[in-house]
Amino acid sequence: MTGRPLRADNETRTRDLNLGKVALYQLSYVRLHFLAVSPALSASGTVAHARLGAKIGSPHRVSDPRRSPGQAARRSPRVAPMRAWLNGTLLADPTEGAVAVTDHGFTVGDGVFEAVKTVAGTPFALTRHLARLERSAKGLGLPAPDLDDVRHGVSAVLADGAAGDPIGRLRITWTAGPAPMGSGRGGGPATLVVAYSPIEHAPRETSVVTVPWTRNENGATAGLKTTSYAENVIALAHAQERGGTEAVFANTAGNLCEGTGSNVFYVLDGELRTPTLAAGCLAGITRELVVEWCGAREVDEPLAEVRKRASEAFLVSTTRDVQAIARWDDRELPAPGPVTQQCADTWAAREAETMEP
Ligand SMILES: Cc1ncc(COP(=O)(O)O)c(C=O)c1O
Repeated sequence: MTGRPLRADNETRTRDLNLGKVALYQLSYVRLHFLAVSPALSASGTVAHARLGAKIGSPHRVSDPRRSPGQAARRSPRVAPMRAWLNGTLLADPTEGAVAVTDHGFTVGDGVFEAVKTVAGTPFALTRHLARLERSAKGLGLPAPDLDDVRHGVSAVLADGAAGDPIGRLRITWTAGPAPMGSGRGGGPATLVVAYSPIEHAPRETSVVTVPWTRNENGATAGLKTTSYAENVIALAHAQERGGTEAVFANTAGNLCEGTGSNVFYVLDGELRTPTLAAGCLAGITRELVVEWCGAREVDEPLAEVRKRASEAFLVSTTRDVQAIARWDDRELPAPGPVTQQCADTWAAREAETMEP
C-alpha cells in the first residue's frame, strides 16, 4: 500500500489484513525507579558535577548514596525516575542544576531537540530522528551535533534498566551553549543533553481543541523542532482547560496545520489526507512513516472545513503513535473510524518488524 492514498473501502481493508497478525505491545504500567542514582553509576562513584558554578561535564567524585539509606534520603528524598547525560557524563541527579544559567537554550530558547520513543530500551527510528536533529540545527544556524556523541549519550541513559520499561522517551537537546544575555550568540561551546524517562502508553482515543492562535508558516523557525515551545505550552493549557489533550492550530491562511506535539490526519470524501509541510507543520517522523505505510494525500484545506466534514480523524506522534480523535471541539467523531483502525494496525505491524524503519 506504500505511496497510494488509503481509502475507506474493502479493498484497503483486505490489503491490510494480508499484512498478517498485528503485534501489539502489552499494555502495562511502567516500572518506576526510585533509586537515588543508578547502581552502575554509584558503583563507579563518578558523576557529572551537577551544581551551578561548576565546569560543565567535569567528572566529580561523590560519596556512594547507598552507604546509608537515611543519609541518601536526606540528600534527595525522591529522585524522579529519569536519567540524564550532559556533555559526555551521566548526571547523579537530573533534577539538580547542571547547565549554565547563560546557556542560550535556557535564556532565549536557542536550541533544537528530539523526542524519541523507546520500546524495551531500544530507540525507535533513531536514525530518522537524528537526521531531523541535524536539519533543525542547520535551520537555526547551530553547528551540527556529533551524532556519535549523541548515540553515546543515548546508550548511557538506556544502559541501566531501560530494557525493563515497556516504553520510554528519550529527549535529546542541543543548544547554542553559553552566550551573552540578549539574542546575539556567544562562541559556545554547544550544550548536548540526552535524558530518558519511562512513560505510559497513550490512550487509543482523545479529544482535541482548536486554539485561537495560528502557526506562522512563513516564520523563521517554521518546521524546525526548536526549544522555543512556549506557544505550545499556552495552546496546550488552553486545550486542557476545555477537556482536550491536544490543541490544534490553523496557520495564517486558515488551513489545518498541526497540534502542539503531533500531526493530524483525517478522512474526507473517503480519502486519507494530511496537511503539506508547506502548511508550517513539523515534518513529524510518525507522519512521514504513516504517509509511507498507509498512503495519505498531502493537501492543504481550511481547518473549519476539515473539522466540519471529516468522517474521522487521528493524531500521530512519537508518543501517541496513531491516536483516534473522538471529539474535535463540539464535534463527535467515530473513534476509531475504519481508516484510523487500519492505520493503527498497520503501524503496530510495521513497528514490530523493525526499530529502524
Ligand atoms: C509541533 C510538533 N508537531 C508534530 C510532532 C510529531 O512529530 P513526531 O512524529 O516526530 O513525534 C511533534 C513532536 O513532538 C511536534 O512537536
